[in-house]
This record gives sequence, structure tokens and C-alpha cells, in this order.
Amino acid sequence: MMAVRHTGDQPEIGIDPATFHRIAEIVYQKAGIVLHRQKEALVVARIGKRMRQLGITHFREYLRRLEESPEHEELVEMLNAISTNVTHFFREPKHFEHLAGWLARWRLEGRTSFRFWCAASSSGEEPYSMGMVIREKLPADSDVRILATDLSTRALAEAREGVYTAKDMEKVPEAYAHRYFTCEAAKGDHRFRVHPALGKMITFARLNLAQTPYPMRGPFDAIFCRNVMIYFDDDVRRRLLCECWRLLRPNGYLVVGSAESLAGLPTDFKNVAPSVYVKS
Ligand SMILES: C[S@@+](CC[C@H](N)C(=O)[O-])C[C@H]1O[C@@H](n2cnc3c(N)ncnc32)[C@H](O)[C@@H]1O
Repeated sequence: MMAVRHTGDQPEIGIDPATFHRIAEIVYQKAGIVLHRQKEALVVARIGKRMRQLGITHFREYLRRLEESPEHEELVEMLNAISTNVTHFFREPKHFEHLAGWLARWRLEGRTSFRFWCAASSSGEEPYSMGMVIREKLPADSDVRILATDLSTRALAEAREGVYTAKDMEKVPEAYAHRYFTCEAAKGDHRFRVHPALGKMITFARLNLAQTPYPMRGPFDAIFCRNVMIYFDDDVRRRLLCECWRLLRPNGYLVVGSAESLAGLPTDFKNVAPSVYVKS
């Protein structure tokens, strides 16, 4: 039976179990994201918004559009709609302290070239935070590249634009805001644009963590793969960890979200601090 919900004056048709099941199956096959039945309200809200943009009122009709969409265009949009992109600058600040410590040590060892991967970069706050720490700790002429990837083309577009609201900037220390952003007036408000020197360090690209192997060779000094494994099952997590292992240099670091852990997964990564692992 289809449940009918009313939001204000606007009727919304609910999703029937078979359609939910098929959409969840597609999301898992294509992006490794597990949608249990408890996620139905989220699916209805997020895909419902996309359906309104398309003028579609029935989930079954949307599913048909999804399955028939040439070049998987609607699939990309659906994954944009489904993905949770919550992030902020210097989220889980301890990880950035670790990064600062590694950079100081590597510099003392005489290293001048560094490669990082931010594996679920969302709208850019995480790789830009990494970039700020790197700029603070290394001479400006160091050879540094950050690869920042995500599944969501919408999040990547925001990340590439690198423009943030005053609210987004709350966790950025004031001195960094001055050094790494330009304040612009925007419709009676202010916007903060990432400084080109920071932007130049980072390459943004779409990469689906559920589709292994990844098209990079590495090696990376550190991989930040935070707050994305929670959406996956153990099969995707295992493949992801194998790829992180392959892509890290010996003694390179893997950082996961503080709510995540590699416990119970078959891996040789050694835990060196909460949610920080080393390939040793
Ligand atoms: C909650 S955000 C975390 C952002 C950031 N890493 C942080 O910790 O603040 C999760 C991100 O993972 C991305 N994501 C989800 N599934 C993915 C997949 N299969 N491949 C790549 N990125 C994915 C989402 O698009 C989203 O931007």
C-alpha cells in the first residue's frame, strides 16, 4: 500500500516497498551506500525534492526515469540527492594536529615533496583545512598536491568554487581566515573566497569509493577518508581499505572519522591514535 503524506498544502505520495527496495538496490550497486528500511523517510525527502524539480509525482515514475536515463545522467543526480554532505572546516580538530606534527617531522627529515588524498571531500572544507595546515607548516615553495575526491558532483562544484558563508567560516581561526580567504560583499552579506594559493594545491575530481580499483597510483603520504565508511557495508569497506593500503607509501597514514574504526576488518593497518592508522 502506498502511504500518502501531506506537507502543508502539498500532497506527497509515499514510496511503495518494491520501489524503495529497487532504489536502495541501485544506490548500493552504484555507490556502496546501504539504505535500510529505516532510511525511507530520508529517501522520500531527498528524492522527493529531485522529483519536484523534474515535475514527477510518483516514485515509480521516477524509478523508470532513473533506469532509462541515457548516460546515467539521472543516476548522478540521484546520488547527489541521496548523499549526506555534512562537513565543516577543521572537523575533528585532533586530526589536523596530527597532520601538523607529521609535516614538522617530515620536514626535519629533509623531505620537500608531499602527496595527500582527501577521499570524501564533500564541499571542500576538509581539503582546504588540510591545505591551511600544510601552508602553515611548510615553506611556500614546497611541492605539495592534495587530491580531493567525492561522489557528489554538486558537492564537488561547491568545493571547486571555494566560496563560503560567514557561518561556514565559524571554525576557521581568525588569522587563517585573513591569510587564506578574501572577504567579498554579496547581497548585503559577506562571502569568503578561498585564496588562489590554497586552491592551486588541490585537484578536485569525482571518484566513487565503491568502485575499486581506483584510477590512481599514489603513493600518498596520508589519506583522510573520514565519515564516509559509515555509509558502506563491510564488503565495500574491505575493498576501500585494500586500496588505501596500496595507495599509501610505507609509514603513510590513514585517517578515518572518529565514529569509524577498522576493528573487525581484515587489515594490516596499525592503530596509532584514535581513528589514525599507519601502514607499517
Ligand atoms: C558526511 S560527508 C563527510 C565529509 C568529510 N569527509 C568530513 O568528514 O567532514 C560524506 C561524503 O562522502 C561522500 N560519499 C558517499 N558515498 C561515496 C562514494 N561511494 N564514493 C565517494 N564519496 C562518497 C558524500 O558525497 C559526502 O560528501
